[in-house]
Amino acid sequence: MNEKRYAVAVDGPSGAGKSTLAKAAAQALHITYIDTGAIYRVIGVAARRRGIDPKDEAAVAALLPSLRVGLEHGADGLQRMFLNGEDVTDEIRLPEISLYASAVSAQPKVRAFLLDMQRRFARERSVIMDGRDIGTVVLPDAEVKIFLTADAAVRAQRRFLELEQRGTPRPYDEVLAELQERDRQDTQRAISPLVRAADALTVDTSALDFKQSLALLLQTIREKVGL
Ligand code: DC
Repeated sequence: MNEKRYAVAVDGPSGAGKSTLAKAAAQALHITYIDTGAIYRVIGVAARRRGIDPKDEAAVAALLPSLRVGLEHGADGLQRMFLNGEDVTDEIRLPEISLYASAVSAQPKVRAFLLDMQRRFARERSVIMDGRDIGTVVLPDAEVKIFLTADAAVRAQRRFLELEQRGTPRPYDEVLAELQERDRQDTQRAISPLVRAADALTVDTSALDFKQSLALLLQTIREKVGL
């Protein structure tokens, strides 16, 4: 076990490889991986189920008090998400939930509702947490901050292949357009927009394969933490 407790913040746009890389890094370092996008997706699922327009701030805010968002790690180490006790781990990955999650995540009340929950995880153990504002807002004192990015066309191509493998294929043009729309929403919102923290190291994976990206990520973390 690691004696030293530390936090690694990984931020970046959709499809840059954050979750795949952070998950693999967590395994190599024997620390906990927290996917914060999954938490916003649970709110997205709740809005969609109630037929609420995810951009309607008053309606989304009114929904929050009735929601219990749960996050647990199974015996396999994988993160499972719960909405009022119901396992919604698969449902949050439906492609239509992405825009719902992005829209609700732009709302201050939603972000405030989820902030403590995210911070609590890092207090209790060493974590690698990925999202959009982890290094800037959620864990501003994280020992390591990584801004993981890649060209939009490369990210869209990766998402396209992922959807195909998952059995929910979509045309490439649609995937690219949706990704650009999410980039726009996530970077231009007023609250906690996706920005690179001043002290974050940028890792651009456009020209790197998975192995190279992971090696770079691990090397950076080990150097910074002194492992
Ligand atoms: O990482 P993801 O695609 O699962 O995230 C879903 C949405 O949630 C994404 O559009 C932006 C938002 N999000 C956020 O605003 N802050 C985070 N820390 C993580 C995700």
